[in-house]
Amino acid sequence: MDISNLRGKTALVTGAASGIGRETALAFAQRGADLAICDLNEAPLQAFASELVAMGRKVYWQRVDVADRGDMERFAAAVHERVPAVDILVNNAGVGLGGGFLHTGLDDWDWVIGINLKGVIHGCHFFVPPMVARRSGHVVNVASAAGLVATEMLSAYSTTKFAVVGLSEALRDELTQYGIGVTAVCPGIINTPITRSSRIVGPLGTEQNREEMVRAYQRRNYGPERVAANILRAIERNRAVAPVSPEAWAFYYGKRFIPGLLARFTHAVGARERKRRGL
Ligand SMILES: NC(=O)c1ccc[n+]([C@@H]2O[C@H](COP(=O)([O-])OP(=O)(O)OC[C@H]3O[C@@H](n4cnc5c(N)ncnc54)[C@H](O)[C@@H]3O)[C@@H](O)[C@H]2O)c1
Repeated sequence: MDISNLRGKTALVTGAASGIGRETALAFAQRGADLAICDLNEAPLQAFASELVAMGRKVYWQRVDVADRGDMERFAAAVHERVPAVDILVNNAGVGLGGGFLHTGLDDWDWVIGINLKGVIHGCHFFVPPMVARRSGHVVNVASAAGLVATEMLSAYSTTKFAVVGLSEALRDELTQYGIGVTAVCPGIINTPITRSSRIVGPLGTEQNREEMVRAYQRRNYGPERVAANILRAIERNRAVAPVSPEAWAFYYGKRFIPGLLARFTHAVGARERKRRGL
């Protein structure tokens, strides 16, 4: 899709009140797109919508829990009253869950699967059929480098992100006949507020560990605006999988060409962390 000028086009972004979603919606708006945005967090979403309106864009915003089928259905109905189909769909809303399988409770599984996987399924279910009817558009599902390589530190999170990569690959295969592209975006360590909202389960779930994680992400200093730029490029090139950041590319190629070595490396990193923390 030509993304140099998005005037007259509508881009939809879930989880647009913060981080990668916010920067991606802003990048679309800067190229002239109108926006449909949603988030669980109403106040920052509304403030962001006002910013986009001040840029001269048409904006429809709604508080939505992407995990909730009814919420997503109502959001889709309201969006499709305004436009017959969105041109770009970005299923971005997501949450973090750190910790191993043995410490992950069933409520934690429901929470992370509900948002990270069912949220993406809901987005595709309600917004893709009108795109198919119009035979154009692009779908972006925000997965993660943890959707390419799994470690014990992100057991449930990786499960959801591997599933998002699989769903995206299958959807791409199905939608190509309708002229619709699908991209799974796989960012590495991105400095966003997700470090504050993530759940951390098991012995790693201490305030000290959270502060260490926040500082590590800040030191890494790879901003969400760089992910947004990569998302636009991936749409333009119709990439199937778009790793973002050097560590995500290393995982992408490592998994393909040296999977055994990569597994030993990630295991050694985890073991070193456990030892350092006396676990
Ligand atoms: N930050 C990273 O290092 C990183 C790395 C790889 C992938 N990702 C993925 O990128 C996406 C965006 O994350 P981010 O880093 O920008 O985080 P963020 O916390 O800054 O933004 C996520 C947004 O999603 C919203 N949200 C959460 N649950 C929701 C729900 N049930 N319904 C609607 N909105 C909801 C939040 O309110 C927030 O505004 C997520 O899918 C995340 O898994 C992030």
